[in-house]
Amino acid sequence: MKASAKIDPSSLAVTPLTPERWDDLVALFGPERGGLGGCWCQWYRLLRPDFEALDRDGRRQRFEKLVQEGPPPGVLAYDGDRPVGWCAVSPRAAQPRLDKGRVSKRVGDQDYDHIWVITCLFVDRPWRRKGLMRPLIDGAVKLARDQGARHVEAYPMIPSPKTGDADLFVGKLNAFLSCGFRQIAKPLPKRAVVRRAV
Ligand SMILES: CC(C)(COP(=O)(O)OP(=O)(O)OC[C@H]1O[C@@H](n2cnc3c(N)ncnc32)[C@H](O)[C@@H]1OP(=O)(O)O)[C@@H](O)C(=O)NCCC(=O)NCCS
Repeated sequence: MKASAKIDPSSLAVTPLTPERWDDLVALFGPERGGLGGCWCQWYRLLRPDFEALDRDGRRQRFEKLVQEGPPPGVLAYDGDRPVGWCAVSPRAAQPRLDKGRVSKRVGDQDYDHIWVITCLFVDRPWRRKGLMRPLIDGAVKLARDQGARHVEAYPMIPSPKTGDADLFVGKLNAFLSCGFRQIAKPLPKRAVVRRAV
């Protein structure tokens, strides 16, 4: 694939992370890295002391158990047979660290019981800058809707030319807006709270 080419939509599929796809998630994240720094998507799911009490293997095992138990904690993107992208989405209640964040703390007196949150995106390096962010967001919204969510929330950023790929794990604001989200708060100059009914 040419470095600059957008992904061919006819070879792209976005689907929930169900137990039989666990090995694909491991292949995408890297068995050692677990995404970035051995996180295994546990950062928002655990308060800091509980997160730090687990080593990489502990976080990986915890995540695998969550996948086994369901509901799927996110969606995988495939280019043909190859897993190339991930977007985490889960009920807000399953992600207690969100309440502690300057950007992700609760906004107003909402019915937070039915809000799901997109917390993280990850695309395999050779597939970056090929347009996977929006299909991943759309797939995550569909998963949340199918699981009974009423709203989906996210905390994307407005990147600058200096923004590194890792910093953009929360997604880009205009991508969420073009996927039907609206901005409901702007807690920092380069960070927004966006939400859409599903
Ligand atoms: C952030 C990330 C998911 C973006 O995915 P992607 O498939 O490359 O994104 P897209 O190609 O769909 O681009 C979407 C938009 O983001 C922009 N973009 C992508 N990477 C960017 C960067 N590093 N800086 C600024 N803008 C960037 C694109 O130009 C595009 O903008 P536009 O819609 O206004 O034209 C990917 O770079 C990644 O996986 N980064 C690592 C994140 C990570 O470490 N996650 C795990 C944490 S444990």
